[in-house]
Amino acid sequence: MKHLIDIKDFTTEEIDDILLLAENIIEHPDDYSEVCRRKKLATLFFEPSTRTRLSFEAAMLELGGSVLGFSEAQSSSASKGESVSDTVKTVSCYADIIAMRHPKEGAPLLASQRSCVPIINAGDGGHNHPTQTLTDLLTLKRELGKLSGLTIGLCGDLKFGRTVHSLVSAMCNYEDIKLIFISPEELSLPAYVKSELAKHQNVSWRESGSMEEELPSLDAIYMTRVQRERFFNEEDYLRLKDSFILDMEKVGLMKEDAIIMHPLPRVNEISVKVDDDKRACYFRQVSNGKYVRMALIKTLLEVQ
Ligand code: NCD
Repeated sequence: MKHLIDIKDFTTEEIDDILLLAENIIEHPDDYSEVCRRKKLATLFFEPSTRTRLSFEAAMLELGGSVLGFSEAQSSSASKGESVSDTVKTVSCYADIIAMRHPKEGAPLLASQRSCVPIINAGDGGHNHPTQTLTDLLTLKRELGKLSGLTIGLCGDLKFGRTVHSLVSAMCNYEDIKLIFISPEELSLPAYVKSELAKHQNVSWRESGSMEEELPSLDAIYMTRVQRERFFNEEDYLRLKDSFILDMEKVGLMKEDAIIMHPLPRVNEISVKVDDDKRACYFRQVSNGKYVRMALIKTLLEVQ
């Protein structure tokens, strides 16, 4: 039985297979509309979500399966003091596969050690978010036609932004990658992610404090929101929240064929005027999220 807790749980080949399958599903959705008949997905969301939970549910419904679950810890027995481990043992009696989001780093890993059905990490605290990464990879592939030879700027809250940590880890699978980390010093990439980068000759990286200087050379800019809920105090959040804002003036510095990505939700780090620019692909990214999750569910359930 296979789980997806960390993007490194999948080899490059396994990731590429999921992306290919997602593309096939986009081309031929009818071929997949019954593959999960009589299968159930449980979504256990102990933290807020719009896209991740609904895209998982839409994905399972489009595969012909059913969904059950909860969308806040308060409505589960966690509010009575039940452990993650007991919750998961229980839910794995009702469902064939579980997608779990939890504010504590490592909770989905613990769940995978207790579960008798596949567990998918749908975001654990400020740590990892591997299914957003599959979404991001599919977006890079569809928009830019390749995953190697790319220069990507990652901007905003690189400390708490779990989507960034998983994406950086995934990019280590591809050749000739340049990553530029643009953030306030206090929100820079954690040391454990940097030490993973150090093991890979195929990826070069540096940190920068200026969007304007970096934008002209990028193939993609990956914007993130400052993660208010993970700050220890509101003052620091207020001081840092508007450090980097992508507006039309800055978009004007980008290459014509570059792309603007964001895992969403956006707060104000991308001006809404940018939405109409052809380089803005964050809503196409949302749509890709459903298809990679369809491919992932089908793969983990090993259905034909
Ligand atoms: C992200 C998350 O939950 O980490 N959202 C998402 O799943 N698309 C990004 C965020 O919350 O900022």
